[in-house]
Amino acid sequence: MKMDSKVFPDLDTLSRTALKDMLAVLDEAVANRGRFVIALAGGHTPAMMYALWADEHRDKTPWDRVHLFWGDERFVSQDDPLSNYRMTQEKLISRVPIPAANVHPVPTNLPQPQLAAEAYETEMRKFFGSAPPEFDVQLLGLGVEGHTASLFPNSPALEEKQHWVAAIRAPAEPPDRLTLTPVVLNRGRNTYFLVSGANKKEILAALRNEPDSKPSVYPAGRIRPSGRVLWYLDQAAAG
Ligand code: 6PG
Repeated sequence: MKMDSKVFPDLDTLSRTALKDMLAVLDEAVANRGRFVIALAGGHTPAMMYALWADEHRDKTPWDRVHLFWGDERFVSQDDPLSNYRMTQEKLISRVPIPAANVHPVPTNLPQPQLAAEAYETEMRKFFGSAPPEFDVQLLGLGVEGHTASLFPNSPALEEKQHWVAAIRAPAEPPDRLTLTPVVLNRGRNTYFLVSGANKKEILAALRNEPDSKPSVYPAGRIRPSGRVLWYLDQAAAG
């Protein structure tokens, strides 16, 4: 697989560069479309980028034009330590003057994951209108077995052709999750894969060595947006 990647000595430099690139897209999006819409990633790797955004660009960001969505979420309450929303709330949202109406968390307060998936899709359809959404930036991570967002190997959600959001059972803790599907993720204007840590070296090599002629066996390799795709790797992951 051809991988347009940048390698950095550490997570700090990776986070600073991804943030700088993202803010350039933000300026372009606000100038041309009046708003910047981002799908955030969960897990550990993006946390530093979120904190830097709040620390160093709080006063330079037009927060009333910024809309936050999530590429995936664990089906836990928003105050649960495993909640991607909670991580973002602590690192970014609670530290910047973004209007509450511009923050679009996955409604994990609903009784079942499937209801949360339907409700989130309804909210996205209200926000984006009929055409599948094109996020200005979508941040994605990479799991050691090749998952991205909460699209895990052999997940039926990988074959989804209609729905924008799927409720899935993951081979990971917590198992119940919500994820954007390839229907949406393959339309991103700018997709940044943020990958750090030596435990990602093997999967990155496997992805790179896959022939482009065949569909990838890894979910992350199945996300082939029409827009720009950049891989931000730290040296430990890149090997
Ligand atoms: C999640 C994520 C998931 C994550 C990868 C990488 O909710 O778990 O969205 O897709 O990006 O698991 O996680 P790390 O960055 O913590 O390695």
